[in-house]
Amino acid sequence: MSKPILISQLLNSAQAAEYLEQEVVVAGWIRSVRKKKHFSFISLSDGSCQPALQIIADAGISGYEEGSTMLTGSAAKFTGKLVASQGKGQGVELQASSIEVLGSAGEDYPLQKKATSLEFLREHAHLRSRTNTFGAVFRIRHALTMATHLFFSERGFINLHTPIITSNDGEGAGEMFKVTNFDLDNIPRTKSGSIDYDQDYFAAMTGLTVTGQLEAECFAMGMGRVYTFGPTFRAENSNTPRHLSEFWMIEPEVAFADLEEIAQLAADYVKYMISYTLEHCPLEISFLSEQYGEGKHQQQLESVVTAPVNKITYTEAIELLATSGERFEFSVDWGAELQTEHERYLAEKKFIGPVIVTDYPKECKAFYMKQNSDGKTVRAMDLLVPGVGEIVGGSQREDDLDKLTTRMDELKMERDAYQWYLDLRRFGSVPHAGFGLGFERVVAYITGMSNVRDVIPFPRTPKSARF
Ligand code: 4AD
Ligand code: MG
Repeated sequence: MSKPILISQLLNSAQAAEYLEQEVVVAGWIRSVRKKKHFSFISLSDGSCQPALQIIADAGISGYEEGSTMLTGSAAKFTGKLVASQGKGQGVELQASSIEVLGSAGEDYPLQKKATSLEFLREHAHLRSRTNTFGAVFRIRHALTMATHLFFSERGFINLHTPIITSNDGEGAGEMFKVTNFDLDNIPRTKSGSIDYDQDYFAAMTGLTVTGQLEAECFAMGMGRVYTFGPTFRAENSNTPRHLSEFWMIEPEVAFADLEEIAQLAADYVKYMISYTLEHCPLEISFLSEQYGEGKHQQQLESVVTAPVNKITYTEAIELLATSGERFEFSVDWGAELQTEHERYLAEKKFIGPVIVTDYPKECKAFYMKQNSDGKTVRAMDLLVPGVGEIVGGSQREDDLDKLTTRMDELKMERDAYQWYLDLRRFGSVPHAGFGLGFERVVAYITGMSNVRDVIPFPRTPKSARF
């Protein structure tokens, strides 16, 4: 098989010139076929770029008689000459001299040209990479992965792979999936009747990690600046457009840093990701903006890059919400969690862009956050964006051993299990801070997709782990 050339190379204007009037081979999946009497227009995609390649195949060229298999969804290889396009829209097109259908798709191919809703595509998640929408989303997801590693690497951070199986509930929220090799029909019990974890594989109760933060803190306390980028699991029963049971999180952790520094890092990181995407995926962004964002999404992203990110305290946020005149489903009381509707009001209507909220009541946040001198709030921050709400949660960490253990006792946490974490406060403790960014939430925000299930290849959500 002569080696096909990527369609992205053929359509790239600089390279197109090099191939113009040359014979080339392309291979991909047929997006659509328009049959005329003496020829067909075929639109072919190989997933390498947003536009499909327009191909003109005259009836009678080699392989054309297999026309009945030349259908939407079929995989095919075309040989032909790249010529300047007669039609508008595309600079070049392929004048085919032969066709080889490699894998035909019948009339029952599910993704026919007629509009296929995002819900329908979720049911066909194994095929949705063949649509314009998912091609765009996943090329952007890739760009955001690259942007993440570049951003942190350029700033001297070390990438750290933290464990997926852990015996610590790092957020203390009791949302861990269990990991065990017990025979579930015959679980060993202690004399008192409780589960005997001593007999389990790890001789302890273990689960899938809800955060890599505690381990990242260990490495920040030796290497200074680290970041994780890994799968994260939460067994929370949340069926919302922004929750997944399995998601990816980026968690930087910085020694000798305080809340202000880490908030600035989060704002810079989000802006960097937007700039990187606008630069590397302009066709994807404009396609999605037209398709789902009424053409305005792209401009909204562009405006974020240049504007400063607003920062308010939780107490100020409560005042703004209480005096907003909006009707919220959940009441606005100092001490309560901010709900998605509150977060979205702040980002979408009040600040019309990203906003960082700091200094939450300690009851709303995890045990490890640095306590403020008011005795009521902690040095926490969330970064909220339009369309999604919270995409980043972080804090300065409590570096004082007594304060941390007192808080753990209040929350009835077992100190023994956290001995190694507490050691960081015993030996060479320094102020440090970090945050976690939900990767699917940021991909949803930047692509403008309204459901995180549409920005991860195969979503896991309550009652759903197909594929
Ligand atoms: O706010 P969270 O729970 O913070 C932590 O896990 C800290 N340990 C982070 C740190 O300081 N190192 O989660 C961080 C982010 C959230 O802001 C959200 O974007 C995302 O992770 N997230 C989820 N994304 C999808 N589905 C879920 N169920 C999520 N839960 C959290
Ligand atoms: Mg959070």
